[in-house]
Amino acid sequence: MQTTISLEIQRYRPEQESEPVYQSYEVPLRKDWVILDALNYIKDNLDGSLSYRWSCRMGVCGSCGMMANGTPVLTCATFLETYAPGPIRVEPLINFPVIRDLIIDMSEFITKLKQMKPWIVREEEQPLSDGEYLQTPDQLTEYKQYSMCINCMLCYAACPIVGLEPGFLGPAAIALAQRYNFDNRDQGKKQRTEILKEDNGIYECTFVGECSIVCPKSVDPAGAIQRYKVAAAAEWWKSLLLPWGNR
Ligand code: FES
Repeated sequence: MQTTISLEIQRYRPEQESEPVYQSYEVPLRKDWVILDALNYIKDNLDGSLSYRWSCRMGVCGSCGMMANGTPVLTCATFLETYAPGPIRVEPLINFPVIRDLIIDMSEFITKLKQMKPWIVREEEQPLSDGEYLQTPDQLTEYKQYSMCINCMLCYAACPIVGLEPGFLGPAAIALAQRYNFDNRDQGKKQRTEILKEDNGIYECTFVGECSIVCPKSVDPAGAIQRYKVAAAAEWWKSLLLPWGNR
């Protein structure tokens, strides 16, 4: 019976390597272990210099995303056994610069996300004396799916357009724009649309759909993007047919 499995891990230590290299480690193959357990085993017992991100260990924080045998996964939610007899090749998420070993640089994404204003924008605030901005269960359902995004970046690693056009806003940023656009308390849709309709916005997406396939939270960013395209096309037709009504 197989008792261990081999992990081939991409290492990149900029102070000692100009290019990434691969290093193999043999770890116990336990039924209840996920890839993150194996990385923690390596860090604790075999090689303390290995660098990677993780935090919650329960698919919530979104920080443990990596490539496993070429597919973007949350390593805290991916069992070693799936890959038996191995080896498992573990690499940093593709389509991102690598800072060290399995750690990617997310600063570009943060810049794109900020452009989307992922918060409730109000043109005018109602006075405190009016109480909360109320919302019905149906209004919550409108955007809830998109609010499940944990910014794990799996969708950016899966998206061929992000690979070809690094300026593309990308699946998560657009899905999060939709999260607020569909929120009845928000009034920022016009500001977001100005950016979404630019060259690097929604029209870059060719609806490959890989982003939705790898999403661990079923956010369906591809659906969010197509929904936006349909709404934008309807607006455009409306402006042609009823030009005076859109002024
Ligand atoms: S460690 Fe938080 S999502 Fe995996």
